Amino acid sequence: MTKLRSLAANTPSRRANWRALGLSKEDMDKPKIAVVNSSSELAICYAHLDGIAQQVKEEIRAAGGVPFEVRTVAPSDFITGANKTGSYILAGRDIIANDIEVQVEAALLDGMICLTSCDKTPPGHLMAAARLNIPTILVIGGYQQAGEIDGEPVDVEDLWSGQIGERFGAKPKFPVAQMAENAIMGPGVCAGMATANTMHSVVEALGMCLPGHAPVRANSPKMQANARAAARRIVEMVAEDLKPRDILTPGAFRNAVATVLAVSGSINAIKHLQATAIEAENGVDVFALWDEMSDVPVISAVRPTGEVRIEQFEDAGGARAVLKRLEGRIDTGALTCTGKMLADNLDGYVIPGPDVIHAMDDPVGLGPSIAILRGSFAETAVVRLGIRDGSRPEEFSGPARVFESSAECMQAIEDKVVQPGDVVVARNQGLKGGPAMGGSASAILFALDAAGLAKTTAFVTDGQLSGLCLKGLTVAEVHPEAATGGPIGKIRDGDTITISVENRSIDVEVPAAELATRNGPGWKTPASGYLGTFRKDVRDMSTGGVLLPPSC
Ligand code: FES
Repeated sequence: MTKLRSLAANTPSRRANWRALGLSKEDMDKPKIAVVNSSSELAICYAHLDGIAQQVKEEIRAAGGVPFEVRTVAPSDFITGANKTGSYILAGRDIIANDIEVQVEAALLDGMICLTSCDKTPPGHLMAAARLNIPTILVIGGYQQAGEIDGEPVDVEDLWSGQIGERFGAKPKFPVAQMAENAIMGPGVCAGMATANTMHSVVEALGMCLPGHAPVRANSPKMQANARAAARRIVEMVAEDLKPRDILTPGAFRNAVATVLAVSGSINAIKHLQATAIEAENGVDVFALWDEMSDVPVISAVRPTGEVRIEQFEDAGGARAVLKRLEGRIDTGALTCTGKMLADNLDGYVIPGPDVIHAMDDPVGLGPSIAILRGSFAETAVVRLGIRDGSRPEEFSGPARVFESSAECMQAIEDKVVQPGDVVVARNQGLKGGPAMGGSASAILFALDAAGLAKTTAFVTDGQLSGLCLKGLTVAEVHPEAATGGPIGKIRDGDTITISVENRSIDVEVPAAELATRNGPGWKTPASGYLGTFRKDVRDMSTGGVLLPPSC
């Protein structure tokens, strides 16, 4: 075993602190492991993790380590979603990474096991792992049990779409109040392939959790066994000195990108992967990787892209089965937290649900399900395509209908101001404009759908859209954003915007010289406190929106 860094700093005062905390003399020589618990009592996404942390600690002790539970901030869309002054959700991601640095690095612990659940906790944990570069493994916190009404499954996505659709005259699947009573029947992250389950699959594809762990039903016997297995493994990883930067190689990122494309996951994965790559200092350009892997088809259509429920996806093999299907297209030589290559982890694995996770030559939809557009309108922008069955326009040109906020846009849809043929532009929702991607761009999509405009308009925003995949042509995360002088901030009603999926382009038909003479909107939303600090310091989307890249 390499010399433990916790021992290298074994000063008398440090020893006194540990002895007073109850460590025995024998414990002093054991590997000291942080059990990073990103949870609170405020949201169901991680309501079970305190119990899991206890099991993990027991198992670490049994395996010869000494656990220290450390808490971090725990953002969740249920409690800290978009509001009038921005979003604490994305802003929370970087606090998680910083929280971990402050506690684990300062204490010079030897390794860490991160209990990861709601959207921003997996990327926060990955960023911290890459930054600290001490042996790290993630535990997938799992998805919540959906409920049912009259024998039909009802989940949180039904509830969200129902409550917005109702405002625009669409009839929800069941009364919204009834769905609110039945949609969530246990702890864990939102059902469906939204950001949390996408990021859980990304963690497995990167090799940062044990194989076969994503997705999993939260707090199930399987999830608890997974957590215990990870606890045993982290003690071994410390002994092996297996570090995140050994695992987070360019090949691992290629595998993660392919996985997101194969399940048409959340577009948030792009910025989270880029932010992790920045922390790992591995030179990976995730946007370029997206272009490189764009032939990867959709092989499993989990809700909201298709009708497969997350439970079915788990039973079919989940991320491990997707990686098995992708075997010929990805980097199976990538090292994983098992200490073996991905190829070894997949060797002999038989996919339990071949009808749910299709073969590459029998896909659910041709790739790409998500693509990067570039042009005179954006250096990069993300278009969601989902299942490309011909029902969604892929070429669109029309006059811009510009809105400074989601509320203004929603009102215009309700007032029938938005017309077929329009390119609906919702701006001021980016990293600085939001700030932290505040606003409710996703609600606009539900509104366009409910108003019957999803397929006859295009929607463009500098905000984010998570895993949503409704019927129309939707372009998000336009970079540069309005607040930093991007073209999206300078266009006016009536300017023509042209989108071409085939050409991977998005252009505005206004000469650059004229755009340069126009003023952008600047910052429309007030921001003080932490969101004000975030607005000041956040880097642009090409970095994944990190606050403090290591090169600073
Ligand atoms: Fe936490 Fe959806 S709000 S996963």
